[in-house]
Amino acid sequence: MNMPEEIGKLKQERGAVILAHNYTLPEVQDVADFVGDSLELSVRAKESGAGVIVFCGVLFMAETAKILSPDSVVLHPNPFAGCPMADMAKFEAVREYKEAHPDSLLVAYVNTSAATKTLADICCTSGNAERIIRSLPPEKRILFLPDANLGKNIMDQTGRPMELWPGYCPTHDRILPEAIQRQRREHPEAEVLVHPECRPAVTELADQALSTGGMLRQVRASTAPEFIIGTEIGIIHRMKRENPGKTFIPPIPHPVCPNMKKISLEDVLSSLQDFSPQIALPPAVMDLARQPLERMLAVTS
Ligand code: 13P
Ligand code: SF4
Repeated sequence: MNMPEEIGKLKQERGAVILAHNYTLPEVQDVADFVGDSLELSVRAKESGAGVIVFCGVLFMAETAKILSPDSVVLHPNPFAGCPMADMAKFEAVREYKEAHPDSLLVAYVNTSAATKTLADICCTSGNAERIIRSLPPEKRILFLPDANLGKNIMDQTGRPMELWPGYCPTHDRILPEAIQRQRREHPEAEVLVHPECRPAVTELADQALSTGGMLRQVRASTAPEFIIGTEIGIIHRMKRENPGKTFIPPIPHPVCPNMKKISLEDVLSSLQDFSPQIALPPAVMDLARQPLERMLAVTS
């Protein structure tokens, strides 16, 4: 039996579902029951009803799955797969801000730790950030954390002023406007799709700034033959599989999130064999962190 077959057999025996983010390694995506963006994965985790969820993505995503599905065992096959941007909004620093600005609404991008989410009023993902911000009372001051690029892009879309936490995604921040301009010159027929974690100077040059799920839908719907894809390279695996005949071009040579690549097929297999590593969070943290996530899901459902 090869490794994907072994994983499939164990998954059945354990009653497990495998959820994977669009940036994970191709071979990991190929053994998953569902591949999606942060919002789609949150909804799947909540609705799966599975006793065991193997979550292939970075730590905050696996924590979100556990918070929304507390009765499931959530396996995170490589505990070292974290998100550097989530680590830029530490609980203590955000608590200090909250104490100094008790009237502000705290909007936490899902790319935050469970601990930091306990301080938030509402969460958002790249797929629903605009709707979430538009749903908030206009008189309230807002702190958006931790992604200043996403925050500024949403401010530009909604016209709503916000204070921005100085965080950023190292993978998306490396994509510079010059790279998009060069690719546009070389591929004049191409449609340019970028992730809203890119700098505003980059999103301005794109045809659309979309979540990873939004990009996949747009690529399917569009008649363009070529696409410049301003996000992590892992998504191109799924784009090619779903759209044979269309061409996908990364704007820079290796737009890679090293953390998403830490989860290997071997890790997935051994997590199912050993039932470890599991996401374990204090119940009080889960109860508090669930509130801003449920508010987000209520606005978007
Ligand atoms: P999506 O929600 O668009 O999948 O983005 C998650 C992420 O971490 C992007 O870097
Ligand atoms: Fe975090 Fe950026 Fe990796 Fe997304 S791509 S998980 S924001 S480091």
